[in-house]
Amino acid sequence: MKFFIDTANLDQIREANALGVLDGVTTNPSLMAKEGIKGTENQRQHYIDICNIVDGDVSAEVIATDYEGMIKEGEELAALNPHIVVKVPCTADGIKAIKYFTSKGIRTNCTLVFSAGQALLAAKAGATYVSPFVGRLDDICSNGVDLIAQIVVIYRNYGFKTQVLAASIRHTQHIIQCAEVGADVVTCPLSAIKGLLKHPLTDNGLATFLADYKRVNG
Ligand code: G3P
Repeated sequence: MKFFIDTANLDQIREANALGVLDGVTTNPSLMAKEGIKGTENQRQHYIDICNIVDGDVSAEVIATDYEGMIKEGEELAALNPHIVVKVPCTADGIKAIKYFTSKGIRTNCTLVFSAGQALLAAKAGATYVSPFVGRLDDICSNGVDLIAQIVVIYRNYGFKTQVLAASIRHTQHIIQCAEVGADVVTCPLSAIKGLLKHPLTDNGLATFLADYKRVNG
């Protein structure tokens, strides 16, 4: 399972990368706005800064919603760095744009996916990744992990190469649940990744080891 961090915050990306288990980064317009990255030039430099931290795929989302605009913007984003993956919303123009990018060898991440039907279209268009939003489905009393499981089965049935990138991960248990159903990637807040480390028996056991050592060895 690949671990991506879902943020545009460079400090968090550096911290996650230092853990040694980071495989990539996903951003979106809201995450970029949260960091106060204003203007196309600054946004594109920020993507390059992220690519210079992580040796892995970095999703950069287009703002354009029309096919022609997506193509223009996506080609500019892809040209920034070999690690850039062009993130495109799952709309009619988005699927058409993904098909075009696939024909040009530009890797894509189809985002804002909430159904198996959308995921099927993303795979048929040749998306590199599909991003079903687990947390936002849970927020409306649907089951986001069930969607991940459904997409994994469909992709396996037909040998689609599109990778299932579970997004909108809200906590550590989402990571485990997505791993249990075979997601290829999870993109998470740093807190969810760090939560995998936590167990009181580990802390207590280490404390006992050290105390016993100190008792004998001083
Ligand atoms: O990559 C998509 C992710 O950022 C959405 O997460 O928590 O806003 O649903 P959230």
